Amino acid sequence: MEQELQNLENEAKEQLAELSTVDQLEEFRIRFLGRKGHFTTAMRQLGSVAKEDRPRLGQLANRLKNEVEKLFEIKHTSLKAASQTSRQDGVMPDLTLPGRWSAPGKLHPVTQVMNEACAIFEQLGFSVAEGPDVETDHYNFEALNIPAHHPARDMHDTFYISDSILLRTHTSPMQARVMEVQQPPLRLIAPGKVYRCDSDITHTPMFQQVEGFLVDKDVSFADLKGILTVFIRQMFEKDLSLRFRPSFFPFTEPSAEVDIACVMCDGAGCRICQKTGWLEILGSGMIDPEVFKMVGYDPEVYSGFAFGLGIERIAMLKYGIDDIRLFYENDQRFLSQF
Ligand code: FA5
Repeated sequence: MEQELQNLENEAKEQLAELSTVDQLEEFRIRFLGRKGHFTTAMRQLGSVAKEDRPRLGQLANRLKNEVEKLFEIKHTSLKAASQTSRQDGVMPDLTLPGRWSAPGKLHPVTQVMNEACAIFEQLGFSVAEGPDVETDHYNFEALNIPAHHPARDMHDTFYISDSILLRTHTSPMQARVMEVQQPPLRLIAPGKVYRCDSDITHTPMFQQVEGFLVDKDVSFADLKGILTVFIRQMFEKDLSLRFRPSFFPFTEPSAEVDIACVMCDGAGCRICQKTGWLEILGSGMIDPEVFKMVGYDPEVYSGFAFGLGIERIAMLKYGIDDIRLFYENDQRFLSQF
């Protein structure tokens, strides 16, 4: 029995020395030190040895088992430390690698065009006024000579918040807001977001407009044409053809929509200009005397023009974009090109 215990200890020590992973060590523990392991089995056999030898052999078995347990603990600690170090090695950053590139932020193409448009008008002597996106029915429609049930309301698919509060459908409410509190001469632009329930390749539900208006004595349609022609030529940096097409807006009389020669097809006709060769970019006209009367200006003394241009349409033409919705899909591959 004594020899058997010694052999067991030697075998355990030899095997322990060979182990190289924590998993192997666990198998070893079960095999030698577990409840059904070799040491437990040997100790159970002590019951069958002679009574007088039992205490001595019992002490020997305990001492040998304790020694193996101590060696097991030492091996366990060292293998665990080694496995942690090697795991860390796997994720330790290689400090010699180049850093990860993060794209520098830049202005959205529509914002760039908006800034450019405002800068051109500021050079032409216009100052900037800003107003609310959430507007009252009064300023969006009534003050612009569009009473309830007027068919012109159908031109704007309006997002209503309540019966009298809505998301402004155009920047024209700023005409009434400014004229109510300021006396002529006025020369202002009002840039901002506007909203309409509208979506296709040339329409988005949110888009940006720049309203412009000039009120003074003896302002004529020729002044409007002059300002817009200068603006378009500066914006597109070329001598583009402009077309003033008679139109209707309840707050201007006479009214005109302005088209520019389609920059995609040079006027030949394509999907974007719907084969017409022209693209509508703004609405304009001479401010209606009714609007002047509502803000207390004398239409016999003052005259003025106003226009509202769509910034996304200009950005499409400037950059050759054939679907306006691309601007608002937030695709980095698209946006990073500007
Ligand atoms: C108006 O909004 C008038 N308030 C413009 C105006 C101002 C007329 C002052 C007279 C005096 P209109 O609905 O046509 O007009 O829109 C003006 C421009 O906004 C259009 O020429 C077009 O360039 C752009 N636009 C209109 N709807 C959309 C849309 N859903 N998405 C993108 N751009 C649009």
